[in-house]
Amino acid sequence: MSAPLIVLVGPMGVGKSTVGQLLAERLGTGFRDTDEDIVTAQGRAIAEIFVDEGEAAFRALEKDAVRGALAGHDGVLALGGGAVLDADTRALLAGQRVVYLSMDVEEAVKRTGLNVARPLLAVNPRKQWRELMEARRHLYEEVATAVVATDGRTPEEVAEAALDAL
Ligand code: S3P
Repeated sequence: MSAPLIVLVGPMGVGKSTVGQLLAERLGTGFRDTDEDIVTAQGRAIAEIFVDEGEAAFRALEKDAVRGALAGHDGVLALGGGAVLDADTRALLAGQRVVYLSMDVEEAVKRTGLNVARPLLAVNPRKQWRELMEARRHLYEEVATAVVATDGRTPEEVAEAALDAL
């Protein structure tokens, strides 16, 4: 059975997709993103799933998407920023090479601003980011086998640092 070479976790907007694609190019492998898998399977945007069915229903879909991608992909895999909130999803990551792409709150606000396409950040982005990071940082650290700080770095520099950290 195939398994990903690298799994990327970290908050939304940290650059998991951009860095993941660069890493996949460097490693000569494919790139997959569980958010995209969910959108394709559901035929709906993630924001729509949140509005129609709520976050818990989305997390259940996400857990299935992570399980499927871990079992069926041998390249670079990016997870949605909140995937680590689910204990079963975290357990699925045991034994994988997991890189946590981190950023501080100010960098997060700068990069994402007020982004209505990201439903968790629709109001008061700085406060939301602070709370989000406080709630999730330890979960990213729990699943990670390496941490790469992205603050002030280009995606190319982050990809380089991730390769060094492997
Ligand atoms: C979420 C992050 C998003 C997406 C959904 C929820 C989160 O993924 O899964 O909007 O809870 O942080 P990205 O990290 O790819 O933006």
